[in-house]
Amino acid sequence: KFMKYSWKFTWISSLFTLSYLVYLIYDENNPNLKQVPHDKNKKNLIILGSGWSSISLLKNLDTTLYNVTIVSPRDFFLFTPLLPSVPTGTLDLNSITEPLQQIIKRTKGQVNYIEAEATNIDPVLKKISLKSVSVNSSNNTSEKDENENESETIIKNYDLNYDVLVVGVGAKVNTFGIPGVQKYACYLKEASDSSKIRKNILKTIEAASILPKDDPERERLLSMVIVGGGPTGVEFAGELHDYIHDDLKKWMPQIADEIKVTVIEALPNILNMFDKKLIDYAEHILIDETSINLQTKTLVQNVDQSNVYAKLVTDKNNINENQNQNQIIKIPYGVLVWATGNGQREITNNLIQAIPSQNNSKRGLLVDDCLNVIGANDIFAFGDCTFTNYAPTAQVAYQQGIYLADHLKSLAKIDILNEKLSDLNILKQKNLPETNINYNKEIKTLSKKLINYQNSLHGFTYHHMGSLAYIGSDKAIADLSWKDWQTISTGGIMTFVFWRTAYVSMCLSMRNKVLVCLDWFKVGLFGRDLNPRD
Ligand code: FAD
Ligand code: NAI
Repeated sequence: KFMKYSWKFTWISSLFTLSYLVYLIYDENNPNLKQVPHDKNKKNLIILGSGWSSISLLKNLDTTLYNVTIVSPRDFFLFTPLLPSVPTGTLDLNSITEPLQQIIKRTKGQVNYIEAEATNIDPVLKKISLKSVSVNSSNNTSEKDENENESETIIKNYDLNYDVLVVGVGAKVNTFGIPGVQKYACYLKEASDSSKIRKNILKTIEAASILPKDDPERERLLSMVIVGGGPTGVEFAGELHDYIHDDLKKWMPQIADEIKVTVIEALPNILNMFDKKLIDYAEHILIDETSINLQTKTLVQNVDQSNVYAKLVTDKNNINENQNQNQIIKIPYGVLVWATGNGQREITNNLIQAIPSQNNSKRGLLVDDCLNVIGANDIFAFGDCTFTNYAPTAQVAYQQGIYLADHLKSLAKIDILNEKLSDLNILKQKNLPETNINYNKEIKTLSKKLINYQNSLHGFTYHHMGSLAYIGSDKAIADLSWKDWQTISTGGIMTFVFWRTAYVSMCLSMRNKVLVCLDWFKVGLFGRDLNPRD
């Protein structure tokens, strides 16, 4: 009897889950055709950026309260936590991106999108300058060459006025001005970076494979160097190891055995934001199980076409006589990935300089508890372009987006109530005999509502859910904390399963969740595909 009921229960719950999934997919694929249009009585709200903070804001904002325009050079959302899996073909780039139009078309109110880069913000005139770049390609039918394609880059500069501006332009990779980095290294920050790394890996493997085994050039080409032992560098090193050992080894075993992956880190340890126990575990896995070469206490100072030059950072209290404090080592590379953290974008630095109260802040925009840019009116900022007490993570940016959506809703409601109250006061003063409105009662009710909204305004509070990182060889580390629970630090294969489950559930759309799972399934069956067709 028990078996009969448990089967029934399983069937019914599976059917229910499946119908819910179908509903979610249907809902996602159907735009809202009755969006509330823009109207001149509402404030113009401009959101800069289409990353974690801005998209979280857009998804949670009541877009009927403002005339919303989103400005970003990127017409899609990128799920960065899974970006390190793309260059090695574990995931397809399409699976971790979501077209902006699909997000915009599901909002309640009309949202305009401008594909452009903001180049300047004038906080006094409440104006932003935009630059949009488009390529106009046309078939050249001139007498010279009939088949020649001519493409013309059109740059358009224009201004846009705002009533309320939200800055969520993120950050760029910090090169610390180290010579050669910009010219020779690949980054892992944007969608396009992944295909650049992938092409570089393939190109160097192909070039090395035709050289004799004892050729030093072959050794150089097969040296893959990652600078920065933060989570970006370590996760990518883990993915690279998996590709080499799970896939390349089957097809080119000799090359796979010769490839050397090195992670260079200036500090004594990698993954410094994790618990010490997890750092030790990650270092043990990287060194002993994945044979990644960990080069800690090594500060890269220069990069040329073929080598990285680094200074060994010695503990000042622990230098023995034979050790040279300024010893420079040369590490040859075939592929170089630079992941040394965040630096601010030009637009952010320009805004900082335009506002005296920002005191030339070097590490990002200074904001108050409610995410107002200090020293400016009606400008909010969140995510990686700000400098706060929180780490520059997607988790923080996402929560700030939810907070700001709620805060902007309250501000809009306060504006509406203030307007209504001033209209009522004018009417009351005129004391028109033909209206039978009880002004005092109306004013009292609205004032009460206004006070409630004003009292509901509060600052942003961050709830840390923990940190996760993939370290290769189907292992991950997790530093978790839930509410009052003690921090739970785990590592290993079960944590890897948890890591995958957590990241799939964090994907912002059903489409992404399904595609990511399908990619993992595909790789499990057929291995990784590193063919650079893009
Ligand atoms: P972004 O998400 O970077 O978005 C910035 C947006 O602004 C982009 O759309 C960009 O095109 C746009 N933009 C840029 N310049 C302009 C301009 N001038 N005008 C208009 N728009 C502009 N965090 C975690 O919490 N967990 C993780 O596992 C994790 N993994 C990561 C893995 C990688 C490889 C990387 C690079 C980062 C990872 N992070 C992770 C950090 C996380 O991605 C960032 O903290 C987060 O993206 C910050 O969100 P944001 O909205 O501030 O900026
Ligand atoms: P990071 O700032 O966390 O780490 C960069 C590392 O590079 C540092 O350890 C630094 O000491 C090192 N470094 C800097 N200059 C160097 C040099 N010249 N030579 C050698 N080493 C040098 O940067 P990362 O990994 O790009 O992360 C950026 C942000 O994104 C962080 O806040 C991080 O928490 C977040 N993130 C989180 C992830 C996760 O939770 N799984 C994954 C990726 C990023």
